[in-house]
Formats: sequence, structure tokens, C-alpha cells
Amino acid sequence: MATLNLNYLEDLNIFNVNKLDYYSDHKVYKSKQEYLNKQSSFYQSLNGEYKFKYFASPKLIGEEYLKEDFDISSLDIINVPGCIELNYTHAPQYVNQMYPWDGSFISNPPHIDMDKNPTGIYFKDFDVANIDEDLNISFEAGAMALYVYLNGEFVGYSEDSFLPARFNINKYLKHHNRLTVVVCSYSKAAYIEGQDFWRLTGLYRDVYLYSTPKAHILDIKVLANLENNYQDGHLLLNVKSKNVKEINATLSYKGKEICKKSFKDLLDIKVKNVYSWSAEVPDLYDLELEVIDENGEVSEYIHQDVGFRTFEIKNKVMLINGKRVVFRGINRHEFSSIGGRHVTKEEMDEDIRFMKANNINAVRTSHYPNDTYWYELCDKYGIYLIDEVNMESHGSWTKMDVFDPSWNVPGSLPSWEKIVLDRVKHTFERDKNHPSIVIWSIGNESWAGTNTVKMHDLFNELDKTRPVHYESCMHVREFRDSTDIESYMYAKVPEIEDYLNNNPDKPYISCEYSHAMANSLGGIDEYIKLEDKYELYQGGFIWDYMDQGIIVDDKWLYGGDFFDRPHDNSFCCNGVRYCNRTDSPKVCEMKQVYAPVVLTVKKNKVEIYNKNLFISTSIYNFVVTILKNGKFYREYSFNEDVAPLSKKVCSLDLEGINEYDEYVVKVSAHLKDDYGLLQKGHLISFGEDVIGQYKHSVDENDNNYKVFNSDLNIGVYGDKFSVLFSKREGGIISLKYNGQEWVNKPLLPTFFRANTDNDRGNRFNITSSIWYSVDQFLNYTNKQYKVIDDEKVFTIVYTYILMNSMQNKVDVTYKVYGDGNIEVNAHYYGANNLPEFALFGMNLAIPLKVESFKYYGLGEQENYIDRHNGTSLGIYQTTPMENVSKYIEPQECGNRSEVRYCKLYLNNHHSLKIYMKDKPLNISVLPYSNIELEFAKHIHELNKSPNYTYLRVCGFMRGVGGDDSWGAPVLSKYCLDATKDYEFSFYIQGE
Ligand code: GAL
Ligand code: MG
Repeated sequence: MATLNLNYLEDLNIFNVNKLDYYSDHKVYKSKQEYLNKQSSFYQSLNGEYKFKYFASPKLIGEEYLKEDFDISSLDIINVPGCIELNYTHAPQYVNQMYPWDGSFISNPPHIDMDKNPTGIYFKDFDVANIDEDLNISFEAGAMALYVYLNGEFVGYSEDSFLPARFNINKYLKHHNRLTVVVCSYSKAAYIEGQDFWRLTGLYRDVYLYSTPKAHILDIKVLANLENNYQDGHLLLNVKSKNVKEINATLSYKGKEICKKSFKDLLDIKVKNVYSWSAEVPDLYDLELEVIDENGEVSEYIHQDVGFRTFEIKNKVMLINGKRVVFRGINRHEFSSIGGRHVTKEEMDEDIRFMKANNINAVRTSHYPNDTYWYELCDKYGIYLIDEVNMESHGSWTKMDVFDPSWNVPGSLPSWEKIVLDRVKHTFERDKNHPSIVIWSIGNESWAGTNTVKMHDLFNELDKTRPVHYESCMHVREFRDSTDIESYMYAKVPEIEDYLNNNPDKPYISCEYSHAMANSLGGIDEYIKLEDKYELYQGGFIWDYMDQGIIVDDKWLYGGDFFDRPHDNSFCCNGVRYCNRTDSPKVCEMKQVYAPVVLTVKKNKVEIYNKNLFISTSIYNFVVTILKNGKFYREYSFNEDVAPLSKKVCSLDLEGINEYDEYVVKVSAHLKDDYGLLQKGHLISFGEDVIGQYKHSVDENDNNYKVFNSDLNIGVYGDKFSVLFSKREGGIISLKYNGQEWVNKPLLPTFFRANTDNDRGNRFNITSSIWYSVDQFLNYTNKQYKVIDDEKVFTIVYTYILMNSMQNKVDVTYKVYGDGNIEVNAHYYGANNLPEFALFGMNLAIPLKVESFKYYGLGEQENYIDRHNGTSLGIYQTTPMENVSKYIEPQECGNRSEVRYCKLYLNNHHSLKIYMKDKPLNISVLPYSNIELEFAKHIHELNKSPNYTYLRVCGFMRGVGGDDSWGAPVLSKYCLDATKDYEFSFYIQGE
């Protein structure tokens, strides 16, 4: 009788029981027609509804559950593929470095807490017509340990959550079958599957039955390299098969037959002047294999994509088809806010579209092998992949952020060798035929030892055509042989340069950099500059693609929200995209700095720098757009054929431009025709320059108004406006244009913004917390104001002594002109020993719901001084609500820099306008105050129908930073030193 042998969970020698050998991921069809219909009669899906029972521990599972006649009629239903936790049997848990049991069980590998080991049993009844067939079952993935039973008999056991578990089931097969799968949350593998992500379990990829004909190809190994100076292709195909008489192979390119050959084990084809594969031009050949059995009959048909390419390290530089490659990459977890680890094909289609549309050329499959469909997409549309083995043991060597590898696994422990080498072998065997995979990675953050070196060596032995990557050995230099590439994570530019300037012996990449958590990605352009400075600098991978928030009832949730304890909060949300796979304002920045064509405009010249390795700029249309004071003025386009990796300067036609206005000259590159997934006209990149200066005109001699200087207030009344200056409140308490009131709380100096995750990470929120109280409790107890009489127009100066004990203060001067313009000048006087502030500006709480606002500045996305490459000057319109970025945990957002003017529309009749004086401004218009943003923990906690509008006009705004979110400072050139003086001016006007 079948039993559940729980010893497997902790026995380091047992991680596979009865599993089939590891083979390539080719699909088998009866005929070409079946392949074209995408329906193979060899496959039978077992996806869909299963009966399900949950236990807090596998120890609670009685043997009756494993029997074939166990009554499942009253059990719950669960969907496959899917995650158990998202069916709410128990909470999904989000933890980063620590092990999920921290605080309730003392880590002691390979032992686990058997009493707290959530376990699900899946049941499915299915029929099989022909039970003489050789039938197998495949679970494409499943966490964390699977026990498989058929008709009450034990079939096998498997670990490794992200690779297939395949078993032969002939022995127990009947016409009516009962499949029973026990899925445990923890096995010893939990120690090496400690990735920073939601700990989700279940059968989250496809489950299916597949038969194999008698004559059958078990495994294919494609080697398709370039020869003769990367001109010709050489295809070598190694096949493992059974009962095969011969195989008829046809190689064709876009429907044109190149070669036909018959072979048995080894196919060798040379293709002259081959169309090579690269991410830029992902040319694939079709290899069709017709398998002939001993009776001369066709037994199966296989279609294999072949991409001819050579990836190598030559003179310490990584080359693709002979050219130095630079990865403009991103890390991608396999995640869906709906399905958890079950990512649908539609979501993957969206992911590849996103990558191609935003100039990403490389993806690291952080931190485990992905669904095969993802590799197929990357082959087809062109993405360089680092394919990573499912291994991370972060909690075994990092304790409270300090390195302590005293019980690190796998380290150099012989007992852990087999289990990790098996993962290398399996990853290689399944994924080896994908041209998109150019580098293998042995895992993530597992420290290093002889085992990591052996993993590296095994990859090298299995595959001579791809280098091996590992980052964690950077901490343990004696095991640096675990990698062929020098790879750091979150290294700052000077640290990278330090390596590159000191006799580097390996090519360099940042396997993770520019931590895109919430309002971040500041300063990413500094890394891009290294591309041209150092040959061995070969790019990096942004962390990461999308926020891993789980969406429940329209709420975006993160660690702790499921009462999961312990947890790591919103640290699972570090994506350039939000958790619903829509773009955050970081995307346009990434797209621009990752662009393969760099356009630098200087007056009437544009330099076109083609960073592509294989395509000339003849595929682009260059559009010149000229704006006059922000408005469309003229546009024309031109074509230019700049060869790969070269530059050319072209002249621009600026006829008609005068010296009195401001002109924006923008050149942008667009696709001339459809290209892969992208459509004709798609924007690749742009560059722009400004000629002249924007001016707002004010009649400085117009004093056509009345002034009433009363006891508490001074009123100034013009034709269409009135303004009340309060002597007691320290500012404007009423401002009306055409009778419409705009002031709730007076316009006052501001120094605080809702802290970003990066501000919290580098402790700016603490070290600069004094500015929070200065901002919230602005000191005007001294009631210092001064009306200046000798000016031509009404002038009043308020003085705010910010901190009683300090010398710092702010003077705000207002000048009122008869045409309704109010000039505001804010002057901050610094003092010693003050911490940096986030901004210096003026805040206005408007007691109304502003319908929309329009501005002339950088847009259309939110931007900051260290993140504005992807935005361009123009006139944009949006609403305060739309201006709230959807960072999962609300924080500072919505800023626009380089603003010349901004108009807030209440309705068709009334608007309030802000104009720059001599320098452009930072402006935000939001329905929430900085305090509401600071205290909300989730985006859904913010009031959905707010009544106020907050206008913030800043002369100075700190950058957002982005090197990492746990300490990296904002680059000093983007910080605001409060010991210095700052001054800026603007105008208020209204209608
Ligand atoms: C890295 C790690 C990632 C993720 C990231 C922080 O150390 O490899 O998995 O944890 O930091 O978001
Ligand atoms: Mg980690």
C-alpha cells in the first residue's frame, strides 16, 4: 500500500524518485498538420479543476487519502495551474532574506519544521482510452516537494520548484484513473529556494499526460554556431532516440528550403551566408524532423527553431556574432498579481511586447528557470537571456544584513553537492536549445564554496558555447572560479570603475542595478555612460520588471497584508511596472537611456549615434519637431543611413526661428515600418535642445489697485482680482480672480515631501526628520512682516524664523501688479549644522477640486532632477488624480521639472496660473497633501473623492536616487544642502 514517506523531505540524497531523465523541451506531433494546428495527439492536458484538501502538516495526512477509492466528492475545488495560497487555504507569505520560519523554528539544514509545513493534496480522476501506450505525466513546475500517486500506488517524488517533474505511469495505468498529488510547502530544498519573493506553492504550471511513439526522439541537442568570420552557419544536431530507423531533416528559412538530409544520431549542415540570430535581428530557421520507425512509417514530427549565433568571451569581452554586446537588461520574476507564480501566456506575450517596446535587449530569469513559452518568445522576438538555476540560500549567510556564512548551504558541503549539481544538469538539458539563452547562471545569493565552483564547471563541461555567471562569489574571492563574468549587484559607478581600472580579468556586468522600488531609478544614466568608457563594461539588469503586489478585490497588497508573519513589507514591489502590468513613470526613463540610437541636439545640429550592432539607422524615420513657447511650430522628417556602431552629425533646418521666443528643437527616431512586435511609427528615442528663453510678461509699473492696510489684514483690490495678506497668519489668506476664491490655507514655504522608499532606505527620513516638523508646524509666532513703501507696486515681505535655536529663516516677498500678477520671491537663508532638505518651495492648499491642469515643462510623465531623460518639453494636460503615481505604498509623486507655466482649471471659467520668473520650476498638483501621502500605507487607503487640491511650486527639489533602496545616497549633485542659501521666484495669475 502506498505511503507518504516524509523522510524524503529531509534526506539530501533523495530529491528525485522515479523521475524520468532530463531532456530537451522539444514538442512532438504526429504530423506537420498537427504542428500547424498546435494540437498534438500525443498530449492530453490535465489542467483544470482538481479536488483539494489542505493540511497544516503532511503528518496529518492519513493513508486513506492516498487510496484510489478515497471519497473526494465533498472536497473543495482548486484550479491547476495555480497557487494554493491564492485559494486562501493559508496565507501567502512574503519574506526576503530570512527563512519563512524565522522565529518559530531554528534553521538547521536539512531539517525543517515538519509540524508547520502546509501541505495540499490534489485529486483528479481521468480516463485513458489506450492503456498500452507508453504514457508519462509531466508537472511543468510545482513547489516545493511533490509526491505523485496513481490509483493508490506511489509513482514518484520530485523537488526543484521551477523545473518539470516527469514520471512514467504505465505500470499503474487503468482506463479510469485516480491521480493523487501531495504538495508540501517545505523540504530541505527550502534552504536553497530562499529567493526574495512570495512564498507560494502548488501546481502553478501545466500538468499533462504525454505518450511517446515507439520510434521516438528523446532528446535533441542543437549547436548552431557561426564560422568563417561569422559569415556561415554550422548546424550540428545530436539526437538521442529509440527504435528509430532514420530521421528526415529539412532546414528552411522563411519558407524556403535550404537543405534536406536523412540521419540517425548526428546531423551536420553548413549554411553559407547564414542569416544569424541576435536580439536585434532574431532570424530563426525552421528545422523539421520526420522520424521514421523500423517499418518505414512516420512515427512523429518535430519542429525545432534554429538560431545561428556565436556567443563567446574573446579577449575578456563578451561578443555576439563577433560584436561586443552591451546588455540593456532587466530582471524578471515569473509573477502575476492574479495568479501568483502562474503566469498566463497572455501575460508573457505582454511582457515580451513591453521588453521590445522599451529598448530592453536582455532579461535575467531571476532567480530560476521559467516557463518554456517565455524562452520561445525570447527566441522569436529577440532577447538575450541569462538563464538562472533555481538556487538561493540568502538566509544561510546573511543575518540582519551582516554576512555570517557559518552554516551556509550549499557552500563546500559534500552532502549538498548532488542536489545542486542536479539542478544545473536539469536546467541545461531542458533549456539548451534556445538561441536566446546566451549565459547560464548557477543561481543567486548563495555565498560560495567548492559546490558553486562545481556547478560552474559542470555548466562549462555540458556547454562549450555559453559562459557561466554567478555573483555571490564576489564576496568570497577564493571561489571566484564560480563565474566567467565579473558580476556585482547594486555596485555604484565608482565601485564598478574601480574594478574596470585595475587590470580586470573578466568582462563586467551588473546582474542587478538601479533598484526600481516605487519613486526611484534616479541617476541610472550614470551607468549608461560607462558603456562607452570601458570595453569590459557590458551593461546590466535593472531590478526589476514589475511590482509583486497581489491584487485582491481591487486592493494591491504586499507582505503582511495577509497577516503573514514574519514578513518584509512592500519590498516585493521594485518594478518599473506596477503590479497590474501597467507602466510607472520609470518606464520612459529606462526606455530612453536604453535606446539603441542616441540623438544629441545642439542648436541646428543633431548627432546620430547608432549603438545597434547589426542594423543601420535606415530602418528609422527621424522626425524634427519644433515648438515655439511650447506650442507646435513646425515639423519635418528625414532619413539617414548611419552604420551600426557609428556616429554622424546632421544639420537641422531651423528657418524662421527668432531670438524673442523659446524654441524646443526635438529630433526623434521612429520605426519606418512594422518591426517584429512593434508597429510602424513606434518611438525609439529622442533628443532635444532649447533655443531662447521663455518669458512671462508683466507690467512692473502697473499699480492700478487699492490697498487697505487694516489691523490684521492688508487687502489689495484690482480690477479683476483681490488678495488679502494676513499679518497674523503669515501669508495670503484669500486670493480671488473674477470672484473665485483659491486659498484654503495660506501659501507657505515647504521643505518636506512624503518620504520615498529610497528616502527611508538611506535614512533620510530620520536624519532629515526635523524638516518634517518645520514644514508641518511652520514658525511664524514672531509675526514678522514688512510692507515696503518705496517700491512702485505694493510689496510685502514675511519672515519665517524656521527653528528658534537656529539662524535659518525664509523671507517671502510678494509684489502685486495691477494686471493681477503677483510676484513671489522665496529666499531661504541657510545655517550651520542643518541636515539636507528634500525641497524648497511654496505650498498652496486649494479648497476645491481642480478639474485638470496644463503645464509647459517636462512631461508627460512625472520627473525629477535625476530622472528626466525620458520626458521632453511640451505642453501637457492631466488631472490631479491621474497625477498620483500608483506606487503600491504612497509617497512623494507627481513632480514636473523644468516647468515654465502651469494652469489649474477649476472649470471653464476659472483658472489659476503659475509662471516662472527667471528659472523654470518644479511643480506638482495633487489631490493629496504630503502628509496624506506619507501616512497612507496602500494606494487604496487614499480618499477616492478628495475635496482639496494641493499645488506645490518648488525652486529646488532633491533627486529620488535609485542605486539601491537600502542605503544608497542620492547623488550629491542632486541633494540640497540646508546650510546654503536658496532663492527662487514665480508669478501667480488667474482668470
Ligand atoms: C537582491 C536580490 C533580489 C532582490 C533585490 C532587492 O539582493 O538578488 O532577489 O532581493 O536584492 O529587491
Ligand atoms: Mg536574496
